[in-house]
Amino acid sequence: MFNTQIEATARALVARGKGILAADESTGTIEKRFKSVGVACTEENRRAYRELLFTTPGLGEFISGVILFDETIRKKAADGTRFVEVLHRQGIIPGIKVDKGAKVLAGFAGEKITEGLDGLRERLAEYRELGARFTKWRAVITVGAAIPTDPCLRANAHALARFAALSQEAGLVPIVEPEVLMDGDHAIQRHGEVTQRTLRIVFDALAEHRVRLEAMLLKPNMVLAGQECPQQAGVSDVADATLRCMKRTVPAAVPGLVFLSGGQSEVRATEHLNAMNQCGAVPWELSFSFGRALQAPVLSAWAGLPANAAGAQKQLLLRACSNSAARLARYSNSREALQT
Ligand code: 13P
Repeated sequence: MFNTQIEATARALVARGKGILAADESTGTIEKRFKSVGVACTEENRRAYRELLFTTPGLGEFISGVILFDETIRKKAADGTRFVEVLHRQGIIPGIKVDKGAKVLAGFAGEKITEGLDGLRERLAEYRELGARFTKWRAVITVGAAIPTDPCLRANAHALARFAALSQEAGLVPIVEPEVLMDGDHAIQRHGEVTQRTLRIVFDALAEHRVRLEAMLLKPNMVLAGQECPQQAGVSDVADATLRCMKRTVPAAVPGLVFLSGGQSEVRATEHLNAMNQCGAVPWELSFSFGRALQAPVLSAWAGLPANAAGAQKQLLLRACSNSAARLARYSNSREALQT
């Protein structure tokens, strides 16, 4: 009964010139981010920071959706307006991270499996009631000499497919995120091979579980050299390697790819997105669902002080606007300098 509606939501999330703000850090992750700028991880600081993000004037011009965390979807702005309503007023679609994190995969040293399927049907019904219209589940794939193993890839793909099928059943658009980490010293070719193998196994599992490709989005990593690799790839090499990998593995029925930033610097992530959009016709929208690459400068500018809120919002708008330009293949580095 939800078919038409969720397909329309999937397309709205990758509307021209717009992308997604991932603000779904778990309490542990946001604690790390706060610590880096000397902010205490209290419930009120987490609420105040999310309020700052969501009330940024004009954000809806560049941002189609925001991914929330369980705690955040239940919270309100200082004036008593529910965050979900704050986002609606900006024309932004609220979404929710529904996995329960990546845990050690028993028997497979160095590999992880994402948990959270038990009770998911009931949690999804509640999130829909609370106003969510899309969901996200992240699998974490680590690159090493002998990993990832096929059992790790298959276990994670199975969980992603079950999550996606349950989300569609609940009338929610699943964002399927199999992240191949950029940690390590691997060359870009190895990252490409692992990403390709991962996506093949993920799309096989999605087909087996009858997930409707038109009513989902893929959140892939870009194909990069490992962070510790002495040979870093250039912007056009990353764009070429990423698109080659996606063309080989992602069916054209998927409406959009919303890339994660994965620890790249914010400007680099934007440059890569722009370069991909300059490469010409592909069957999907090439967009973003960035966490760190949208928020890092915002957190630094805020540093927990209410007096810094307006300046921090300016940083968010700048990143959102730059990534919007990259969606349209119109980003240029020099525009940033003009606006800061
Ligand atoms: P990053 O862009 O910081 O990688 O975060 C995106 C995200 O949602 C990870 O699950």
